[in-house]
Amino acid sequence: MPILKIENDGSHDVAEGQRLVRAIESCGVDIGHRCGGKARCTTCRVRFIEGEPEVMTRAEYEKLKERELLGEVRLSCQIVVKGPMTVEPLMRVRDMGWDDPGPEPAVTVEPEAAWFPKEELLEQESKEQ
Ligand code: FES
Repeated sequence: MPILKIENDGSHDVAEGQRLVRAIESCGVDIGHRCGGKARCTTCRVRFIEGEPEVMTRAEYEKLKERELLGEVRLSCQIVVKGPMTVEPLMRVRDMGWDDPGPEPAVTVEPEAAWFPKEELLEQESKEQ
């Protein structure tokens, strides 16, 4: 089982293949997921310290670009745990003053479970313009 390290919240064994947002929550961390894991809200954002995946879903790419967050953060609802990772969740229920983290994200990645290298997404976008 991969080790998930969470800044200031210890190291945890987590099941490989699960969505990172769910893995973080399973460690008792109150990470936000206000859109229910659909790449719309960005409240599941994390800063990667180690183990950042090279690939991302188109939905993550487009949302981060729209919010001018590309290269700054990643959306944990769009990432699957495949190896050791160290992350810092950036929007937590207790810090944001929310009543709850949001609807439970589905087990599988939504809206699309296909990942592309970031360069490929950039290339596709420049061809579309
Ligand atoms: S973008 Fe809303 S939970 Fe990930």
